[in-house]
Amino acid sequence: MTASRTTVVRGLATAVGIVSLVSVTGLATAAPGDPGKPRFTAGSEGVGDNYFPYSGNGGYDVSHYDLAIDYTPPAPSPAPLEGQLSGVATIDLTATADLDRFNLDLRGMTVSAMTVNGKRATGITPPAPGAEVDGAAYWQVQDDAERRWELTVQPRPKLKKGQSVRLVVTYGGTTTRPTDIEQAPYGWYTTRDGAIVVSEPDGSMTWYPVSDHPRDKATYSFRITVPEGKVAVANGLPDGPPVTANGRTTWSWDAVDEQASYLTTASVGDFEVLPVTYSASGVPIHDFVDRKISASRRATTNASLALQPRMIDFFESRFGPYPFSAFGSSVDNDSVGYALETQTRPVYSGSASQGTVAHELAHQWLGNAVSPKDWKHIWLNEGWATYATWLWNEENGIRTAQAAFDSWYAPARTPEYWALPIGDPGPMGLFATQVYDRGAGTLHALRLTVGDEAFFEGVQTWVQRYADSTATTADFQAVYEEVSGQDLDAFFQEWLATPAKPSLP
Ligand code: ARG
Ligand code: ZN
Repeated sequence: MTASRTTVVRGLATAVGIVSLVSVTGLATAAPGDPGKPRFTAGSEGVGDNYFPYSGNGGYDVSHYDLAIDYTPPAPSPAPLEGQLSGVATIDLTATADLDRFNLDLRGMTVSAMTVNGKRATGITPPAPGAEVDGAAYWQVQDDAERRWELTVQPRPKLKKGQSVRLVVTYGGTTTRPTDIEQAPYGWYTTRDGAIVVSEPDGSMTWYPVSDHPRDKATYSFRITVPEGKVAVANGLPDGPPVTANGRTTWSWDAVDEQASYLTTASVGDFEVLPVTYSASGVPIHDFVDRKISASRRATTNASLALQPRMIDFFESRFGPYPFSAFGSSVDNDSVGYALETQTRPVYSGSASQGTVAHELAHQWLGNAVSPKDWKHIWLNEGWATYATWLWNEENGIRTAQAAFDSWYAPARTPEYWALPIGDPGPMGLFATQVYDRGAGTLHALRLTVGDEAFFEGVQTWVQRYADSTATTADFQAVYEEVSGQDLDAFFQEWLATPAKPSLP
């Protein structure tokens, strides 16, 4: 459709008094010299991840999220397990295309006000697809069946490619207990004493408007206001001491290292703030442990957390310098049943075992500094973190990596177990046990194939090359072909893509 045709159609619509109009070109004016192509387009509703088609968004790049969140946990039982959250998200982004509209992801929260570069946008009900909307506006779609939770922004004036934008979104709602595609608990998961916030892979949209995919990493700052006596633990380092006024306390955090959205946290609970410790290389370690965990869990947790400085030293010797400016753990009594490697500050439910602490720490290099470009590359996260615990156990005389490999490889297992291709496990298989142990087995087999020297040089090259970014299995293979001088096509084909037990190298 040409520019003049578009104009004619708009003119007609106005003449007959139609306010909104379905237009095939999608609301666009043509670029000069390219009459067939609309210049201003709508940013896509996803980044193109085939497991999560509505995760992340196209047409822009976020540099910073500033999240001011006010949260009130549930009243004591038998009151419902629901909290009240109200937030102001200040989002700095840059348009990467000429934009008529763009989207953020937001699930279960309602936006009440928005400004784009200081100009107020109006909240409206979603217009028909392709329909014109007058002026600056925003609207929300909440489609649970499709897992399509979108906040659309129509900025006016339209955005030019390269333009910087500050978006201020005022939002809020009742917090519940969201679940992921497998029905596992995640997101802003309401607990009786606060919330445990673990959002892999796409749960950050349950607590702030976000381009919820690892491909758009950003820095963060947090100001979390909670009832006096509660502690809010987010990523990075405390930005000054907590401030109390009128019975409410604000905890401020600054996360200066770019992070993927699934690695954000802001857990709220009755935490004890432990004394800060340091790795040999000077990484500050801030730990938080729920005051209510049992004495035996507390003992296990204390023993594991005490190992963190030594674990950082050890993994630095294998993976290269610790990639961020802080570390530390938050251990919550209320259980989601798994831990998460939230950036600089892993979250544990129930207690923290030595193996799990090693696993979540190793993710800081492998998963967090280097993140999967698409979710199907998840084995690069979980295989490495699992293998890192094999290395830690080997270093500490607990068990050699070879013995760990053998005890995984030797026992008879079902054909179904071997059938899962961990290089593309499907959205329901993201956290399947095979992704973890066949993933670690793949890395050990790689080590046997290329030798120790190339194996450890390879992981350092991998982390250095893709830190603060994302990468794929193909990128990983390329690094190992480079450091080893070997063609590894057949190796990775057999270990990652073949639905059968791989043979020993
Ligand atoms: N990455 C976490 C770990 O291995 C597991 C996350 C599980 N997430 C989920 N939505 N089920 O430590
Ligand atoms: Zn993991």
